[in-house]
Amino acid sequence: MSDILDSDHPIQGYPREELFCDELPTRRRPEIGKILVTGASGYIGGRLAPELLARGYQVRAMVRLASPVYETRWPGAEIVVADTLQPESLRAAMQDVHTAYYLIHSLLLGPDKFEEAEIEAAANFRKAAERAHVSRIIYLGGLGDTRSRLSDHLRSRMKVAEELAGGKVPVTVLRAAIIVGSGSASYEIIKHLVKNLFVILIPRWAKNKCQPVAIRDVIKYLVGALETPETTGMHLDIGGVDILTYEEMLKGMADILGVKRIFLPSPFSGIGFLSYVASLITPVPAAITVCLMRGLANEVVCQDQKARELIPFQPLTYRQSIVKALSREEQDQVHTRWSDAYPPAHELAVKLHELDKTPAYTASYSLVSDKSAAALFRSVCEVGGGQGWFHHSWMWRMRGGIDRLLLGVGISRGRRSPSKLAVHDVIVLAG
Ligand SMILES: NC(=O)c1ccc[n+]([C@@H]2O[C@H](COP(=O)([O-])OP(=O)(O)OC[C@H]3O[C@@H](n4cnc5c(N)ncnc54)[C@H](OP(=O)(O)O)[C@@H]3O)[C@@H](O)[C@H]2O)c1
Repeated sequence: MSDILDSDHPIQGYPREELFCDELPTRRRPEIGKILVTGASGYIGGRLAPELLARGYQVRAMVRLASPVYETRWPGAEIVVADTLQPESLRAAMQDVHTAYYLIHSLLLGPDKFEEAEIEAAANFRKAAERAHVSRIIYLGGLGDTRSRLSDHLRSRMKVAEELAGGKVPVTVLRAAIIVGSGSASYEIIKHLVKNLFVILIPRWAKNKCQPVAIRDVIKYLVGALETPETTGMHLDIGGVDILTYEEMLKGMADILGVKRIFLPSPFSGIGFLSYVASLITPVPAAITVCLMRGLANEVVCQDQKARELIPFQPLTYRQSIVKALSREEQDQVHTRWSDAYPPAHELAVKLHELDKTPAYTASYSLVSDKSAAALFRSVCEVGGGQGWFHHSWMWRMRGGIDRLLLGVGISRGRRSPSKLAVHDVIVLAG
């Protein structure tokens, strides 16, 4: 039972029924000290932080760009700004930390650059953890049979595990395949392919097997590992109940969405080209679809049941995970999304702190409206995403379309919430 989520100590935006670990059988250990959550601005880290806070842990959330929104999102958490590619910045982040979660990847740097950056980041993190005498690192990486030829992305995830574990601090490596949940990049690719295509080509590799896992089960394993000291230094494969081919996953999604789709065997199986097409059809940019879809050439299935034995709870089926994800979207309750992570190399984007500068040109005009202030504000909050721009929306869409053709993220990156706007939300990113 959660004893901290009383009305006088709420975790903002996280009603108690939306926390996943209440039923987790492991014992809370808040006495161990400070927990560092890296990648806190990302999809997994952003969901782990409130869960730990609700269980009474002292949480330090690490982000690359400060924002007042984090203080309200995780009341009670300490926010630290650090970048794993800038080793000096890790000093303050690691100070007095007992356990550090490593929830970082560099896919947004694109297929040519991410691998090198990921290894460098992991090496910096390992050294900083050693210097600060951190007791444990818990890393969430990717599933894959190391005896087979792995995609660059999966190979890099394995190398990060090796790099982190190469020092004195023991590392628990959790390895997951596709994570199903509202806001996860892989889930959004599957959903948008099924929603937007009437005929879906099934290449040879779509017969490969995968063991998808629900986001809530991933969070339970991450918290469960912290609360199960025997998992220190172990590699644990985590997965859901079902082992499915990618074709079955697409068909399952069509079934749940209630749409009829034609699935055609395809003699053409070039993942590079198909992932480029997928980036045009889904909101996920090419830099990420290419890296993730190359991983489809590998079977990603749990090799053993150790995680289930050590952290015992009943994981969800693929179908249950999809239904939960869709219902969160319907309720407009998506707390974190892959697109919350910000591409640092995006020089053309205007960043929040740059808005402080005095503009060289100002203009103002007024318009009398009979709409209420609340209705006008609601309208402002809906800009971008499905609603488009306030006027001449076609120009905005055309601009985004050109950006997609040139492998940019265009406008279909979408919005975290179609109706609520928070500081740091990405609205339009067409560069
Ligand atoms: N999502 C899945 O389907 C899935 C499946 C299996 C495993 N995983 C693993 O889960 C972990 C987290 O993934 P995710 O889905 O949460 O990714 P995500 O939403 O894309 O978030 C990535 C996070 O990494 C941070 N980051 C990137 N480079 C950094 C750097 N140099 N220094 C500090 N922070 C940096 C980003 O911060 P900014 O906001 O500043 O960019 C962001 O918070 C990864 O290890 C991934 O391999 C995910």
